Amino acid sequence: MLWTDKYRPQELSAVVGNKKEIKIITDWVNAWKSNNPQIPLLLVGPPGIGKTTLSQIIAKQFSEHIELNASDKRSQEIIKSTIGESSSSRSLFGDEYKLIILDEVDGIHGTNDRGGVKAIGDIIKSSKHPMILIANDFYSKRLQSIKPKCQVIKMKKSRWNSITKLLREIAQAENVDANPAALKEIALKSQGDVRSAINTLQALSSKDSTLEVQDVENMKTKDTRSDIFNAITGVLKSKTPAHVKEAMWIEEDPTLVMEYIAENIPREYKKKDEIKKAYDYISKADIFFGRTQRSRNYGYWKYASDFMGIGVSNSKHETYKKFTKIQTPTIFTLMSRNRGKRNLRDEIAEKMSVKLHVSHSIAISMFPYLEIMFKNDELAWEISDYLELEDNEIKRFRSKKIPKKVINKMEKQKAQMRVEERDRRAEELKNQMITAAVEIEDSYEISKPDETKAEDTVKKEPPKEKKEKKKTDKQVSLFSF
Ligand SMILES: Nc1ncnc2c1ncn2[C@@H]1O[C@H](COP(=O)(O)OP(=O)(O)OP(=O)(O)O)[C@@H](O)[C@H]1O
Ligand SMILES: [Mg+2]
Repeated sequence: MLWTDKYRPQELSAVVGNKKEIKIITDWVNAWKSNNPQIPLLLVGPPGIGKTTLSQIIAKQFSEHIELNASDKRSQEIIKSTIGESSSSRSLFGDEYKLIILDEVDGIHGTNDRGGVKAIGDIIKSSKHPMILIANDFYSKRLQSIKPKCQVIKMKKSRWNSITKLLREIAQAENVDANPAALKEIALKSQGDVRSAINTLQALSSKDSTLEVQDVENMKTKDTRSDIFNAITGVLKSKTPAHVKEAMWIEEDPTLVMEYIAENIPREYKKKDEIKKAYDYISKADIFFGRTQRSRNYGYWKYASDFMGIGVSNSKHETYKKFTKIQTPTIFTLMSRNRGKRNLRDEIAEKMSVKLHVSHSIAISMFPYLEIMFKNDELAWEISDYLELEDNEIKRFRSKKIPKKVINKMEKQKAQMRVEERDRRAEELKNQMITAAVEIEDSYEISKPDETKAEDTVKKEPPKEKKEKKKTDKQVSLFSF
């Protein structure tokens, strides 16, 4: 069990820091409880400092509450239908207040973004129920129209000494013999992010039940192996393919190398188009790593490695003369990235399996088909809309954004459709995707003679081979030197 869950504060007094803010929130709750309606609260602040935790503690004070994620399009529908009605139609007698928690209001959004902001704005206007909205970025465009309608509470990062104290308590409860200096070191490194501090403590305590300063320091040096640094420097500082290839020839987990390159691209590259191009290559590399993982076909590694190596190195116009310190993608970023890359594939697969009623692994093996379908702007929009994909998920299938013009057109088209028409179109899309899945299944049967690999999921996706072949050809010409 994650210690962040095990030790998630259950009452306000257990929440570290932000005492003044907590007082304001308590007053707000009390006002509601004495039947004195208040405008919604908007909690804004960096990750891992207890925003969600706080809202959940407050929820206990209300007879009923509902937690929604604003970046999930389903929530928007729930808001519009259920909450939309009940929030404005609370009867004056008898009913208890229902607390509405809307998390990640500034989250990553899909194609129907504007609808989302507007829906939230409408609810705020008409809601008779208490609402708490949560966001990370105070300056997010999405919050512009929402901020004036709320009481904004800026939550601050926690101080290192309060984090140290919390870590000490957890270490004690877990019987970890921790050197106070080591705990302080973790707290300092977490830079106010309580969640990452606790995660780190758990990661470092898992081997034995002692924790020394050395362990915390090792964590840093473990990743900073000089060959990784050579590889990164090679990719970012050079444009000579042969040199880059040589630098990349190291014995290290290539996905870790990719994390390093990704982390350092914006530190080294300064022009927008360079950074964008470089990240496109990183996402291509990531797709191939995904394939490697699914198929155990390590031949794909080479392509991934070329994309993140030569591709990224070629994304810059010329080599920068400045000195950039290579940053480690710390255990913090790797662990605390709960919306991170590694989950992306599974999140998409989950959405697909719900909508298409296929298993997770079939859904994943359909990805190459979706890549092909996503080449068409309109189809890309329709599928994303149907599967309720977010922007970052759409990116998994196509590097180019769906043009604004197409989005507007398709949104309008959908708005004009009658319900039956919409359903029919959805059914068509579903069938189109399912057909792809069936083909995958069929070819799986055909390729079964290869007993050794029969269980391997990649055998379910041979049509992809053809496509990849093409990609490879292109890649060869792109990278021939
Ligand atoms: N102020 C705090 N006091 C005690 N524990 C905390 C605090 N902040 C975070 N934690 C720990 O970190 C975990 C994650 O916190 P939480 O989900 O509330 O963060 P958040 O601010 O909502 O972050 P995000 O912006 O990423 O959603 C909690 O379960 C808890 O264990
Ligand atoms: Mg949160």
